[in-house]
Amino acid sequence: MGESFDLEQTDRLLTTTRAVRKRLDLTTPVPRDLILDCIRIATQAPAGGNVQRWRWIVVDDPALKLGVAELYRKSYAPYMAAQREAAERMGKTDTQAIMGSSDHLADVLDQVPALVIPCSLGAPVGSQGTVSAFYGSILPAVWSFMLAARSRRLGTAWTTLHLEYEAEARQLLGIPETVTQVAMTPVAYYTGDSFKPGTRRAAEEITYFNGWKP
Ligand SMILES: Cc1cc2nc3c(=O)[nH]c(=O)nc-3n(C[C@H](O)[C@H](O)[C@H](O)COP(=O)(O)O)c2cc1C
Repeated sequence: MGESFDLEQTDRLLTTTRAVRKRLDLTTPVPRDLILDCIRIATQAPAGGNVQRWRWIVVDDPALKLGVAELYRKSYAPYMAAQREAAERMGKTDTQAIMGSSDHLADVLDQVPALVIPCSLGAPVGSQGTVSAFYGSILPAVWSFMLAARSRRLGTAWTTLHLEYEAEARQLLGIPETVTQVAMTPVAYYTGDSFKPGTRRAAEEITYFNGWKP
C-alpha cells in the first residue's frame, strides 16, 4: 500500500492559499531561515530536464525594498486606473474588494518584511515549446514556495507588476542581464486567523474529455 496523506489538511492548504494583501504583519520580521525553509521545499518542484535554473532574491534591506516598491507603484497606478475604468464601464461592483486590497498592498509594500523575487537563468525566447518550458520550469516552484509559506503562517501574494520595470529592478539588485525575474511575492506573517476557498468555476464546466467541446 502506498504512502497516504491527510487529505483534509492537504486539500485545505491547496484550496485556501490566497493572495494576502491586507493581513500582512508589517512589524514582525520574518527570519531568513524560515524563508530558506520555504525555498528548500520549493526546490522539489518539477523543472524541464530537472535543470533547476533558479535563483531566489530575498530583499529584506529597507532601502532596496523601497526601491522595488517604487517600481511596483509606478506600474500599479496606470494599471489600476485602467482596471477601475473598465469596472465602472461594465457596472461591476464585485471588483471593489480586490481593488481596495490591491491599493493597500501597493501602499505598504516597502514595509513588508521581505520581498522575494524568483529568477530563472536565461530568457524566454524561441518556439512556443521553449517559452513554455522556460516558465513551466520555474513557476511551479514559485507556487510551492507560497504553499510552504502558508503552512508556516506566512502570507504571500503572487505579483508581476514591478516587472514592467524589470531593467530598473535588475539594476537596483545587481541581477545579470542573462537572468529573468518571473514574479515578486511579499512575505510576512499572516495576521488573520482563517482562509476560505475562493469562488471558482466548476471543474465540470472547464473540463472536456477526449477533445474540445464547443
Ligand atoms: C501571473 C499573476 C500575476 C499577478 N499579479 C498581481 C499583481 O501584480 N498584484 C497583485 O496584487 N496581485 C497579483 N496577482 C494575484 C491575483 O490577483 C490573485 O491570485 C487572484 O486574484 C486570486 O485571488 P485569491 O488568491 O484571493 O483567490 C497575480 C496573480 C498571478 C497568477
